Amino acid sequence: MDAILIRGNNQPLRGRVRVSGAKNAALPILCATLLSDGESRLRNVPALRDIDTTAALLRFMGRNVEVNAPEVRVLAGSDVRPEAPYELVKQMRASVLVLGPLVARFGRAKVSLPGGCAIGARPIDQHLKALEAMGCTIRLDRGYVIAEGPSGGGRLKAAEVCFDLPTVTGTENIMMAAALAKGRSTLLNCAREPEVEELGRILNKMGCEVDGAGTDVIHIKGAEPGSLAPFDHAIIPDRIEAGTYMVAAAMHEGSDVILDGAELSDMEALVSKMRSAGVDIESEGQALRIRRQGPIRAVNITTAPHPGFPTDMQAQLMVLMCIARGESVITETIFENRFMHVPELQRMGASIALRGNTAVVQGVDKLYGASVMATDLRASASLVIAGLVAEGETEVRRVYHLDRGYEHIEEKLGGIGGNVARVRNAES
Ligand code: EPZ
Repeated sequence: MDAILIRGNNQPLRGRVRVSGAKNAALPILCATLLSDGESRLRNVPALRDIDTTAALLRFMGRNVEVNAPEVRVLAGSDVRPEAPYELVKQMRASVLVLGPLVARFGRAKVSLPGGCAIGARPIDQHLKALEAMGCTIRLDRGYVIAEGPSGGGRLKAAEVCFDLPTVTGTENIMMAAALAKGRSTLLNCAREPEVEELGRILNKMGCEVDGAGTDVIHIKGAEPGSLAPFDHAIIPDRIEAGTYMVAAAMHEGSDVILDGAELSDMEALVSKMRSAGVDIESEGQALRIRRQGPIRAVNITTAPHPGFPTDMQAQLMVLMCIARGESVITETIFENRFMHVPELQRMGASIALRGNTAVVQGVDKLYGASVMATDLRASASLVIAGLVAEGETEVRRVYHLDRGYEHIEEKLGGIGGNVARVRNAES
């Protein structure tokens, strides 16, 4: 397994970072290609392991997929095998996003339950409840969800679905199911993330009538079977990748970094907190300029569904609070176990006390390099950011987590002055 080696220094970060396309937009959009035949073309797709895993899943189902980042082409094969095997789903929970389109288009699906992951149990009960409301019969069989359309594989029926809580992939799965259901569906208490809104744009490009994607109420008029068209689309920038580099820049006094392609309107909760912490963030055309003069002030955050503070930025902001002046209270409300970066940061000298789903961070003057373990995608990123300012060398192990969601991270950080290198086949 590879490791990332970071040599901390107090050199401010200076220069430009190109923000890649959004992983969490690309994944549902790739699954939406199951809804039509023909060749779909995605542009601005990041070169990430999760993209490769999704491509492997679509190939397993009979799609021809060419991945040449930043472009991916998907061509319908002669037939489709409506199955997502455990071997692929265990690598990436988002594989569950094939469930909706498979049942909608082919009347049946056999998809491995994703199982939990490091950050939590990650149930999919909301996905399944909504599919049942659309006439689907669902049964669980030895770790697999076996789904079948009405009357033994018929066409789904439109329904009014109210999610118990806003679920990003739950909303996306049911949008794709409703895309070919008979009638007009209404989805209530939907997730409002920009990636959900982007999927709505794709379904409309394919010939659906989707209204309200990106809000908590979405109306979808199902298209006739076989009527949806392939699409050509450049996906939105990755707001979490952009936020991660925003925090990296803020770690150093004197930093001045331009994030090319960052979209301020997708990042308002994060930007508001960063500004309160003393970071200067300004829009400059199709970019954001991040500057830091003076100390970082402690701020409190509570994660929430979009447009609230994103849980995917909690670990990164915690690292900034580790070197802030004062006490910061960080509350994680989305996942039950998303503080695994805390013991690793404590080994680097951070002063953090955990109380249930709350972390109380006392800012310290200095962090110290150490060998640390990546546990999940965003925790890995937070450890790399900590290494940028820690005294000495930090080795982040098991960076396959990082490679799932950060394209060329060592090149991007190196390009703005970070001393970051990858060690192949390091001790894990
Ligand atoms: C998406 O995961 C993202 N992944 C996650 O990003 C992100 O952290 C998460 O949304 C929250 O913003 C993708 O988009 C591929 P949820 P998802 O369903 O859809 C509970 C990253 O770092 N829930 O919105 O799996 C669930 O347990 C990843 O890129 C149910 O109880 O998250 C959680 O507490 C990590 N039942 C909450 O809802 C369900 O049926 C929100 O989960 C579904 C979810």
